[in-house]
Amino acid sequence: MISPAENRMGTGSGRSLTGRRMKAPSFAIALLVFGSAPGEPTQPEVRKLCSFDLKGEGSTKGSNNSAPIIYVVTPTYRRPEMVAELTRLGQTLTLVKRIHWIVAEDSLTCTAPITGLLQRLGLSYTHLASPMPEVYRKERYVPRGVSNRRAALEWVQEHGSDRGVLFFLDDDNAIDVRLFEEMRPTETVSMWPVGLIGDYTVSSPIVKDGKVVAFYDGWPAGRKFQVDMAGFAVNVGFLKKQKKVTMPYIAGHEEDGFLKSLGLSIKDIEVKADGCTKIYVWHTRTAKNPSRALKLEKHQNDNIKVLTDNMREMGMIK
Ligand code: UGA
Ligand code: MN
Repeated sequence: MISPAENRMGTGSGRSLTGRRMKAPSFAIALLVFGSAPGEPTQPEVRKLCSFDLKGEGSTKGSNNSAPIIYVVTPTYRRPEMVAELTRLGQTLTLVKRIHWIVAEDSLTCTAPITGLLQRLGLSYTHLASPMPEVYRKERYVPRGVSNRRAALEWVQEHGSDRGVLFFLDDDNAIDVRLFEEMRPTETVSMWPVGLIGDYTVSSPIVKDGKVVAFYDGWPAGRKFQVDMAGFAVNVGFLKKQKKVTMPYIAGHEEDGFLKSLGLSIKDIEVKADGCTKIYVWHTRTAKNPSRALKLEKHQNDNIKVLTDNMREMGMIK
């Protein structure tokens, strides 16, 4: 049996805004929300704001003279590849002006090497943690990266500039920096193609006379918006005006559920990437490395001990 997420991957089988650095609070905020609609949380969501640095973003608040900020939301989780993925992605983001990177860990606490990376990159950033509620980890199809994206979404609704733009970018994707200038003027919701995904090797809006009329996607699954998470951006002012913004805990339906919650009509989608003819983002995936427990008895007094301690802190080994 193929999971919805595997199927859409095309497995071949059918399918205080002052710019200062905030001290990390030593407590976690627990929210009790009881599920009323499909995909709404049935267990408490725990959220923790670990650190942020707004790099003087606030100084241009309310001004029309500067470019809208792009809030890039990246969910991530502890595994051997995590620091490598975020290093590569973060360094790409340093090429782009007026970015605020929200790194949201699927965890109770933030990982120290990620905090260090964020401080070194020099980007404006927010570092959050929000673990997936246990009930979903046990599901057959796990809704990956939802709890942490929801925490980031709440941060953007609370702190994002109305002129800004929200964009979800998974930690393992590959991006051409030209995409950021495509999405920056988004007034409601904009869309573009995503490469290396699904049975068609692409997921894209179908555009006629400059308007989106349908979607070209290998995994329709009854979705109104057949798009990948990296295939759209949302204007923050528009987002804030919507009353019931959510991202459901339903594997494979996170994007569709989120876009439907915005009350969006297909006719209102802004078309980017040259009428959806160009690929500026790819749904790349990294081979998984086992998390090994190493034998280190003979290395208690040499560099290997320190090296492996560092690797353990990064989540590379057990
Ligand atoms: C695809 C989509 O691109 C995701 O946006 C979507 O969340 C996912 O399917 C899904 O529906 O499950 P895919 O490559 O299959 O992505 O999934 P991953 O890359 O494994 O995970 C998506 C994001 O969530 C990544 O940024 C990953 O770091 C994060 N994640 C994954 C977590 O935060 N927690 C997890 O337990 C697993
Ligand atoms: Mn992925």
